[in-house]
Amino acid sequence: MRTISVRAHGKVNLHLGVGDAREDGYHELVTVFQSLSLSDVVTLEIDDEETVATGSIVSGLTATGLDAASVPQDATNLAWRGVDTLVDFYRARHGLGSLPRVRIRIEKGIPTAGGMAGGSADAAAALLAAHILVTETMPALDQTTLDALAAELGSDVPFTLRGGTMLGTGRGEQLTPMLSRGRYHWALVFSKQGLATPEVFGHLDQLRDQGREIGPSLDTTDLAHALMTGNAEEVAGHLANDLQAPAVSLRSDIARTLDLGKRAGALAGIVSGSGPTCAFLCRSELHARDVLDDLLSEGVYSGATATGPAHGAYLIDG
Ligand code: C5P
Repeated sequence: MRTISVRAHGKVNLHLGVGDAREDGYHELVTVFQSLSLSDVVTLEIDDEETVATGSIVSGLTATGLDAASVPQDATNLAWRGVDTLVDFYRARHGLGSLPRVRIRIEKGIPTAGGMAGGSADAAAALLAAHILVTETMPALDQTTLDALAAELGSDVPFTLRGGTMLGTGRGEQLTPMLSRGRYHWALVFSKQGLATPEVFGHLDQLRDQGREIGPSLDTTDLAHALMTGNAEEVAGHLANDLQAPAVSLRSDIARTLDLGKRAGALAGIVSGSGPTCAFLCRSELHARDVLDDLLSEGVYSGATATGPAHGAYLIDG
């Protein structure tokens, strides 16, 4: 049996400014993404005998690793949808014939429903793996078309496809590369239970309706300058997340974790995306390990150290 394996990385939002809700239900964002070393691997196991001409080419999905028990194993999984989206596009536009049947295997290193784009990374990896499979017999798509298919799968999927350090506007899917020097070291604290992204956005709207002044933090100028210095202490002073207040309001353990991180000596702590993962910026790899050890000894659920920026999705085997 042949396989195609693609790795894709998680992310932290160094800045997440959330504007008003739009007609389509999404919120207008100004965000700065940094991809992190934490990654998932999506493997397509290609059937040597059976081919499929219509409907999904995916016959099943399994997940192992971090939070694997809470990963959906059916066609709602973003990796499964990633394969279907790519194949459907080729069928509609390029008269694609039969393809081999595939099974999807996901090795998770990014928390599920943690605000680190774990599902989005799987979607990006699956999209790229399916593209590699289809282009064995068909012409390749250009980057713009792949980005558009990624955006159909979710707002963070184009970023996890591309990686690095990017400004995200629109609903987060419109990307502009940013200048960034150096490597940044993080201590990450995961939660036992995830948070649903729509719930956190919805709660931000509620808090604002009740008169709470939360952002919108739409100016990334100072952070952009800080990133060009390559100095983590400078960057630490300009982290911002408008989803932090609603995430903390929904889950009281987040406030405690942020407080513990500060006391452990992190340069700065922030909720990652819509949470509940908390990300602590540190001076060095050693410092990140020290901060994480301190947090673990205080009884937080679990965690890891990570560095950024990392890559977008890429083929590792196949
Ligand atoms: O794009 P994605 O499917 O990842 O978004 C999940 C949910 O998060 C959306 O349905 C929406 O409720 C919320 N969201 C939002 N504004 C954004 C991105 C996501 O309100 N810019």
